[in-house]
Amino acid sequence: MAKISVIGAGNVGASCVEAMLHLNFCSEIVLLDIKEGIAEGKAMDMMQASKQYGSNTQIIGVTNDYSKTANSEVIIITSGMPRKPGMTREELIGVNAKIVTSVTENVLKYSPKAILMVIANPMDPMTYLALKKNNLPKNQVVGMGGQLDSSRFTYYLAQAIGCPMSDIECMVIGGHGDTTMIPLIRFATYKGIPVTEILSKEQCEKVVADTMVGGATLTKLLGTSAWYAPGMSAASMAKSIVMNENRVFPCCCYLEGQYGENDLCIGVPATLGKNGWEKILELNLNEEEKALFKKSADATRNTASILKEMNLV
Ligand code: LAC
Repeated sequence: MAKISVIGAGNVGASCVEAMLHLNFCSEIVLLDIKEGIAEGKAMDMMQASKQYGSNTQIIGVTNDYSKTANSEVIIITSGMPRKPGMTREELIGVNAKIVTSVTENVLKYSPKAILMVIANPMDPMTYLALKKNNLPKNQVVGMGGQLDSSRFTYYLAQAIGCPMSDIECMVIGGHGDTTMIPLIRFATYKGIPVTEILSKEQCEKVVADTMVGGATLTKLLGTSAWYAPGMSAASMAKSIVMNENRVFPCCCYLEGQYGENDLCIGVPATLGKNGWEKILELNLNEEEKALFKKSADATRNTASILKEMNLV
């Protein structure tokens, strides 16, 4: 069984560890935070619950001791500032870019081959930063955003149809931003039936709009960004990687020509297996969807260009 490290013991990091405990596929999970005692405390609390979860995963909490993360197969980077109500994910770039730079340097010292999964926002530029700054092979770095946005899309579709969430299949591609994500309504199905045949045009438009501001809606309710669905989304992706399941996840990958884009990290459907992201699926987008993807790519590239201005890439 695998060893996984989670950097950042805030809400998302801790929820991700808890979700991995439920999924029960790791021998060891290291939870690391810069704040003295917090990772140790959360790790101990979860260990004391683990028998009742039916899991024997060892959870080790550490304060800033990166040597304990050595030989991890996957490293999940949640550290950084979360959103406050009214804030966009893009506004976090200045502070989080410095954090992601130092965290990736530290983890790679001890686990040079680990698959890095980036959650810190703005997630697409942070994924690009982790990849470029450390000169890693492209498959080794993946960003978690599309899977979360797709979970929110699933939720709103199931609510609108009045069906169980398990009967919905859908995907969100593009950037992980309120205006850049693309919930692909034309590809969404209720047990194979296109949802566009079940819901009215207005209902479909509302589901898409609600999905796009799904994170902001939660941030307004909670006073900070969400954690259960982000944590679980990252945990399922980590499981597909270490178990070499090769399941398809909408996730942030480095594009070299796919979807008409180059030198850009952005959300696309990809299989996740032992090498990180393995294969990008090219969907047959129509003209309208292609235009949305182009607009999303331009906006994401524009945000990422701040990293160049900061001399980080
Ligand atoms: C969200 C954050 C994790 O969308 O980006 O909730």
